[in-house]
Amino acid sequence: MSTLFTNIKELIQVRKHTKMPLRGKQMDELPSIENAYLWIEDGLIKDYGGMDEFHPHPAEEVYDCTGKTITPGYVDSHTHLIFAATREKEFEDRIHGLTYEEIAARGGGILNSAAALEKMTEDQLFEQARLRLDKIVAQGTTAVEIKSGYGLSVESELKILRVASRLRESGTTTNHIIPIKITFLGAHAFPKKYKNDREAYIKLIIHKMLPKIAEEKLADYIDVFCETNYFTVEEMLRIVEAGSAYGLKAKVHVNQFTSLGAIDAAVKAGSVSVDHLEVMETADFTALSGSKTIATALPSCSFFLGLDYAPVNKMIDQDIAVALASDYNPGSTPSGNLNFVFSLACIKMKLTPQRAFNALTVNAAHALEMQDELGSITKGKKANLLIFNNIDSIAAVPYNFGQVVIDQVVVDGVFI
Ligand code: NIG
Ligand code: FE
Repeated sequence: MSTLFTNIKELIQVRKHTKMPLRGKQMDELPSIENAYLWIEDGLIKDYGGMDEFHPHPAEEVYDCTGKTITPGYVDSHTHLIFAATREKEFEDRIHGLTYEEIAARGGGILNSAAALEKMTEDQLFEQARLRLDKIVAQGTTAVEIKSGYGLSVESELKILRVASRLRESGTTTNHIIPIKITFLGAHAFPKKYKNDREAYIKLIIHKMLPKIAEEKLADYIDVFCETNYFTVEEMLRIVEAGSAYGLKAKVHVNQFTSLGAIDAAVKAGSVSVDHLEVMETADFTALSGSKTIATALPSCSFFLGLDYAPVNKMIDQDIAVALASDYNPGSTPSGNLNFVFSLACIKMKLTPQRAFNALTVNAAHALEMQDELGSITKGKKANLLIFNNIDSIAAVPYNFGQVVIDQVVVDGVFI
């Protein structure tokens, strides 16, 4: 099956390869071709270039893209997409003055989500999550990471991870399959019954959950919420090391509310990414600067909880590879819309549209180690694309905040 797009007004994010994440001044460049063609075969980008150098290619389908802009699809490298119920009550509690941390200390928050999830069957969870997947794909997400973490027991963690695997295999309700990476986040919070015996819960993660997950090949990564009242830096390292023995690399939640030294520890432990980073001290910048670890910022979480925004421009200026993701979850970010993340990155974090788009595509693909498959218009990469009917530049996307200006999403070369 081959498809040809001709007369494309602008083909954006065109790169020969994306072997390394973008840093510093590279983040300012968004290579593009005006008046371009794009040739897709069997779901992969086969060729592209300017119409002036176009030689007719054999194609079953040809689309005249006069006036249209084409970009690679977004990559969402951090979500908690599989959950049982929304948490509007806590949202109202925060309006009345309670903080996220106070709500959690009362037994709300993550524990609230875990209690609801325990009651749901795997099939019910799957059906719900699949509808969320439909929605984010329609909003331009063409690859996604999904975490567990609302189980907090062997049975429920496995239930979430199995749902994630089923989503990976079956895709959206219309059977469009986007790449999904799965992360085990058993260390998201201490269940109530382990409050006074943290060690027992950590042992449960290491000796009961992990072996089963490895046996069933249910996860690609391991995550820990390293934060005051959650997991300490030492506990995070133990869990990350245990995961690594089963071949799971780390992607960790750090520096959301406090800087505990987790970034330095995570970078030294070889983490693929460190995520959140709302609170950054000098030593945290130093630890990340020049490292291979991707710094993933989650501006929708800052927006929803009223937290500081991760200082991403300062990171970029200090040779740190920055990605942006949604953090889609019922507690801190009930939205998986990366167009809104794009707007917040520009409006609140003061990233230029070029920097923000690079962070949502090339660097986000690196945060999922899918840089050879996704994130740019590159020969051999997946034809997961966004088509805009009538925009003058990529800045139109963040400018039109709260809206989705994408006209069509393409997955594996097929319109969804
Ligand atoms: O990434 N910070 C930890 N985990 C989630 C929120 C969890 C929740 O409140 O349900 C996050 O923001
Ligand atoms: Fe998160």
